[in-house]
Amino acid sequence: MSNPLLKIRNLHLSMHSFDGKAHVLNGINLEVKRNEIWGLVGETGCGKSLTGLSVSGLVSSPPAEYHGGEILFDGEDLLGCHEQRLLALRGNKIGMIFQDPTTNLNPVFTIGTQLVDVALAAGASDPQVLGLTVGASGRARRRAARALAGDMLDKVGIPNARARLDDYPHQFSGGMRQRVLIAMALIGRPDLLIADEPTTALDVSVQAQILDLLRQMVDEFRMGVILITHNLGVVAQTCSHVAVMYAGNVVESGPVRRVLEQPAHPYTRALMRAIPTRDVKRGALFGLAGSVPNLLSPPTGCRFAPRCALASPACHSALPADREVAPDHKVACVHVSAMKETSYA
Ligand SMILES: Nc1ncnc2c1ncn2[C@@H]1O[C@H](COP(=O)(O)OP(=O)(O)OP(=O)(O)O)[C@@H](O)[C@H]1O
Ligand SMILES: [Mg+2]
Repeated sequence: MSNPLLKIRNLHLSMHSFDGKAHVLNGINLEVKRNEIWGLVGETGCGKSLTGLSVSGLVSSPPAEYHGGEILFDGEDLLGCHEQRLLALRGNKIGMIFQDPTTNLNPVFTIGTQLVDVALAAGASDPQVLGLTVGASGRARRRAARALAGDMLDKVGIPNARARLDDYPHQFSGGMRQRVLIAMALIGRPDLLIADEPTTALDVSVQAQILDLLRQMVDEFRMGVILITHNLGVVAQTCSHVAVMYAGNVVESGPVRRVLEQPAHPYTRALMRAIPTRDVKRGALFGLAGSVPNLLSPPTGCRFAPRCALASPACHSALPADREVAPDHKVACVHVSAMKETSYA
């Protein structure tokens, strides 16, 4: 079995603000291998984006304070990395796509200029990205970067791609701009791609095209992917695995079909029940009572316990360990029976 590309182990993160210190990641564990697409789901504020941003080294400290854990990328601990090294990794090993394509493209530069800049930066860390050897002239690098920008734009399905390099972002539709951001994230041929709600701003037909494209790119580049989303339908369609987060913890994780067909954690079950279906009678929609706890003073023990119908005294005293309920299907709940407990030592 292949080694994980990314291994997040017992990651703890607090954010300082005027109101105090919020313990926003409470011991995250997650492993991603090549060719795996992990859906990261959970209610708003549960720490999905901060998990993704932590892997990219994009959480500034302060206000962030990491106090425990590791983020191992190909065996290298990213939390101990120097900014220069993180910059090089972000250039070509770790790609990131953010939610809103309008705010992530600069309106005053052409699409080509923006793609060429990223290609040149990736080529500076790894000349092979541009198909050149070390010491190639600046002119040769710029020519190769423009050719690569055109190829990538073509690959993500922009018609007449090379001619459109000279257009500005406002000349592209929302779906096309999101394709440009995917091209930008993939131009350095990353091993790991983090996509934070890449389709939330798009209509459903464009969303389906973008998710299809993402799957094709995973097959072609053999990447590992973390796809952050609120939408369990997107997870079912696109992902090979899913991790369900609640208030800074991964409460359930595993192969996507297994978790969605046999959810075991009371929180995952509640999320699944909350999905509207066609045969639900009017007024019979199920909502999850209560809200995510205030992370300035989170509950001790299981953070879901205050909203959980199964909660018992044990749930309020200690954070439950992960239990493997089927191969690779892990659940952090004392009320599920385990095949074995998972140790992250
Ligand atoms: N820069 C910041 N300073 C202080 N607190 C922050 C900061 N960024 C995020 N947080 C807090 O950290 C917690 C997790 O935030 P995060 O953005 O990771 O949530 P999320 O799961 O991505 O939510 P959403 O689904 O709304 O995008 C939230 O309680 C949020 O208020
Ligand atoms: Mg988010």
